[in-house]
Amino acid sequence: MIKSIIAGVGGYLPEKILTNFDLEKMVETSDEWIRERTGIQSRHIASDEQTTSSLAVLAAKEALKNAKISGDEIDLIILATTTPDDTTPATAMRVQAELGAINAFAFDVQAACSGFMYALSVADKFIKTKSVKTALVIGAETLSRIVDWKDRNTCVLFGDGAGAVIVKGEEETEENKDTGIINIILHSDGRLRDLLTTTGGVSRTQTAGFVHMEGREVFRHAVTNLSNVAQELIDTSNIKLSDVDYLVPHQANLRIIEGTAKKLDIPMEKVIVTLPEQGNTSAASIPLALYEGVKSQKLKKGDLILLDAMGAGFTWAGALIRL
Ligand code: UT7
Repeated sequence: MIKSIIAGVGGYLPEKILTNFDLEKMVETSDEWIRERTGIQSRHIASDEQTTSSLAVLAAKEALKNAKISGDEIDLIILATTTPDDTTPATAMRVQAELGAINAFAFDVQAACSGFMYALSVADKFIKTKSVKTALVIGAETLSRIVDWKDRNTCVLFGDGAGAVIVKGEEETEENKDTGIINIILHSDGRLRDLLTTTGGVSRTQTAGFVHMEGREVFRHAVTNLSNVAQELIDTSNIKLSDVDYLVPHQANLRIIEGTAKKLDIPMEKVIVTLPEQGNTSAASIPLALYEGVKSQKLKKGDLILLDAMGAGFTWAGALIRL
């Protein structure tokens, strides 16, 4: 049997930082409101020269370095994003070219904030069916480009960044028996698409549009969906919640993260939180949190990690992996 092993993690955040105090000068808001309602203090913003693909390439290079492999060893690149460089071709194509991943095939996945989980699930299936051996899975966003900087309901929430993971297929042995991707569950409900959307799109308006969110409604669904999918994972994986070493959640709102952790009875010391310094980076948030966890040595080899995400669509997802 083939296992999907996490062989390396990388991340990149643009240099420019936008604080809550900077936002106070742009819209009618306050550092206090943003911190209390969201937990966010600052976020990173791409420079004019940077694009989703350029952030993705830097995150991918870090992941390749940590996995000790080169670009030409990648068989598959999946890039999750809501903010592609171009309408076509896929942003993953620029990444492929920049990495010299000449032996890979590459494409994008669009599942908003759950995008990385969707992409990881697709990579896992390609690996487990022996179609590919080594996959690069990226979540990358320049959300600052589709945020209406005059709308205080949304502009305080989002940030730019990229995270990447190398997933490798390995024949199961005594040594790797319990490691790798154990289970991923994906969900969506298109009836709720208008609660978190953009005001435009290629076919509808020939513009990218701006993010629009019914925050309170999204919030209400988030804690329920995230804790339900986590429970579903546990129920179908022959694993107990008390076995989980760390929760690595999508970073949208600290109250959502705390609410979900509480429902699952996971103490906050066992939750990776990057939200205060990064804001919501959509598809990039989970790989960036994984990267932060590994870099800070909180996440160690052998740890059982529960990932969860929820975003526009609605889409939501959960995964269990052992490093
Ligand atoms: O990543 C995808 C998933 N996304 C999420 O999970 C986000 C889910 N939603 C949320 O995180 C929260 O709903 C928000 C942070 C977006 C909003 O927090 P809230 O506690 O739900 O606030 P609210 O929307 O109910 O607004 C409360 C008040 C309103 O004023 P009134 O109508 O009570 O007078 C808003 O106009 O806060 C006002 N408000 C603000 N005030 C200062 C909204 N945004 C701001 C702001 N600064 N930036």
